[in-house]
Amino acid sequence: MLDDVLTIALPKGRLQKQIAKLFEERGIPFSFEDRKLTAYSKDKKFKFFLVKNSDLPTYVNYGIAGIGFCGDDVLYESGYEFNKIAKLDFGSTQMCLAGVKGSSIPPKGQKIKVATKFTKFAADYYNNNLTPIEIIKLNGSVELAPILGLTPYIVDLVETGTTLKANNLEVLEVLKDINVYMVANPAYYKINFKKIDELVDLLV
Ligand code: PRP
Repeated sequence: MLDDVLTIALPKGRLQKQIAKLFEERGIPFSFEDRKLTAYSKDKKFKFFLVKNSDLPTYVNYGIAGIGFCGDDVLYESGYEFNKIAKLDFGSTQMCLAGVKGSSIPPKGQKIKVATKFTKFAADYYNNNLTPIEIIKLNGSVELAPILGLTPYIVDLVETGTTLKANNLEVLEVLKDINVYMVANPAYYKINFKKIDELVDLLV
């Protein structure tokens, strides 16, 4: 019955393939047809939405998707509170301060100028450290900022370090470990906890 369907938001990009593989390995294969952004599992028990990473919390918050897969980074920026129903054993990264190779971190308390997609995280982190911060918001390819002289530093996710290395940058400080979670809209979870718990047991 379509009313029984669990709605699941998946982030486009890196995690998408890993999550789809996990579902497939656990007997719930699905795929998005060419350019299509919704898909059903074969048994029609699950409906998947393919959304932009940073929009995922919005879909879960409004209950359009009851469940989502999302990193701490994106969750924190959204400001929404969800039930973290499972931690995934892939997709972990680190939020780092990075700069041109050989550069140093400004002394604590001295103003720092960064480019980042993660403006809330950066502002809160440095405010909590009593370090004044100037933030320039970028939406991607943040590594260009120090190379082109927009800002001396970036706050960004580092997974393998390949992007930094390729652009002659390096991690100056690890600010936070970032994990990926399966999250649920709290009201949706209250109504569907049985089915959701079964899915969690199956997946992790
Ligand atoms: C993320 C992040 C870095 C890169 C780090 O970007 O913002 O640019 O991955 O990964 P690495 O350490 O394995 O090289 P993403 O691929 O999400 O693209 P973006 O530039 O659009 O943010």
